Amino acid sequence: MPCRIAIDGPAGSGKTTVAKLLAKRLGFYYLDTGAMYRIVGLYLKNKNISETAVEKIKEELEKLKIEFFNGTFVVNGKNIDDEIRTPEVGIYASKYASLPVVREYLTKLQREISLHENIVVEGRDIGTVVIPDAEVKIFLTASPEARAKRRFKELREKGVEVEYEEILNEIIIRDKQDSERKIAPLRRADDAIEIDTTNYTLEEVVNEIFEVVRKKCRL
Ligand code: DC
Repeated sequence: MPCRIAIDGPAGSGKTTVAKLLAKRLGFYYLDTGAMYRIVGLYLKNKNISETAVEKIKEELEKLKIEFFNGTFVVNGKNIDDEIRTPEVGIYASKYASLPVVREYLTKLQREISLHENIVVEGRDIGTVVIPDAEVKIFLTASPEARAKRRFKELREKGVEVEYEEILNEIIIRDKQDSERKIAPLRRADDAIEIDTTNYTLEEVVNEIFEVVRKKCRL
């Protein structure tokens, strides 16, 4: 039986770092579903397609080829990892993510990728919608300020020019959009373990989850 780990939580809760470290330590695949929403957000925005043009979006998504390689994606033959990481693309991702047509398209792809694998999948709706029968479900939280500080540090370290206020503002906007949307909103699954990461290092969080996985998946 595969061991699938769902890690959900809001922007900047430490999901990505925790999921990557955990996957590496376990030797599991790693799937970043937020990157997939960012890919779609950037793709539709570059084509100037309005969020209300559902048929047009459907047509365009048929031309979009997202290939999964462990931890990363190739989009219509190109690697666009750096382009999708800006706060601006985050906002577009979050906007288009509220559309059923986009969610159906990506949820299907995410299920196909994770079906038979030992995998760590991170996102907003993994434990509730994408893999509701995941062997381990984790929901990470942290205060908006702690999350903005983390994101700010990460982006600055990568050399991206951003202001702290801009990041905090982006996080507040996305929290609202992501948790208030009608379908698959950001929500803790009833059977998920909630971990508030505000006062812990992400290594400590990984250690805690690692122990849970060992027990649940009998590793
Ligand atoms: O994890 P991230 O910040 O890269 O995600 C970007 C946006 O994509 C996020 O604001 C909401 C959306 N998203 C989603 O709706 N469902 C997911 N499973 C993952 C991300």
